[in-house]
Amino acid sequence: MTVDVIITDIIKEYKRGTRVTRALDGVNLSIKSGELVAIVGPSGSGKTTLLSLIAGLLNPTAGTIVLGDRKLDELDDKELSHFRNNNIGLVPQGHSLLANLTVWENVRLPFYLNKKTGNPDDRAEELLKELGIIHLKDEYPDTLSGGEIRRVAIARAMINDPRIILADEPTGDLDEENTREIIALFNRISKQGTTVLIVTHDLDSIEDIECVYKMNKGILTSEKSIKIA
Ligand SMILES: Nc1ncnc2c1ncn2[C@@H]1O[C@H](COP(=O)(O)OP(=O)(O)OP(=O)(O)O)[C@@H](O)[C@H]1O
Ligand SMILES: [Mg+2]
Repeated sequence: MTVDVIITDIIKEYKRGTRVTRALDGVNLSIKSGELVAIVGPSGSGKTTLLSLIAGLLNPTAGTIVLGDRKLDELDDKELSHFRNNNIGLVPQGHSLLANLTVWENVRLPFYLNKKTGNPDDRAEELLKELGIIHLKDEYPDTLSGGEIRRVAIARAMINDPRIILADEPTGDLDEENTREIIALFNRISKQGTTVLIVTHDLDSIEDIECVYKMNKGILTSEKSIKIA
């Protein structure tokens, strides 16, 4: 099996005025193709920072990130956005839908941004059905519940059939039943070969995930016993 994500000695520091915050402090992580991995950690521990680095939206202060056969710091902006559109499906934290587009338009948008030839409609319909929100197709985001918005964001992340899905608190607004459904969906797509990385502070959402790491103050550790704790 090929290794899809290799993160080596990542340090990320942010500057606020003269104060420096070290959000990630020497993170190492390898994720194989088709693996489902969860990172659990408290607020401010560096989870979103790590996802943003893997998505190439931020540059690390030190360290390297390799996705497939690409080393991110060797790509220029154009190559990076092309690589991202083709390979990465990002489910951002919080509400990230465009308010003046319908569910249907939001979900299909990355397909057109990627300038792919063909038609995304069949795939969009399939995803909305799988996520149980096909009846909301023509609605605007401000009429949806938090959980429905999350599911639209997940469908949107999957429209280009990315190799890697990066999901930031994907079950944040969901109840227990919907949380299980979303994790089951991620388990299914990982079995089909898509690499999935979820970050969350919600211990309940990781019950059905085999590979769990813990993030604390920018330090990542393997945490196999977390389910027992
Ligand atoms: N743009 C920024 N400028 C300065 N500091 C930042 C910036 N973004 C994040 N930080 C700081 O870096 C640390 C890690 O933030 P991050 O958003 O990665 O945490 P998180 O684990 O995702 O938290 P949450 O669970 O609340 O989403 C925090 O101390 C935060 O204040
Ligand atoms: Mg976060």
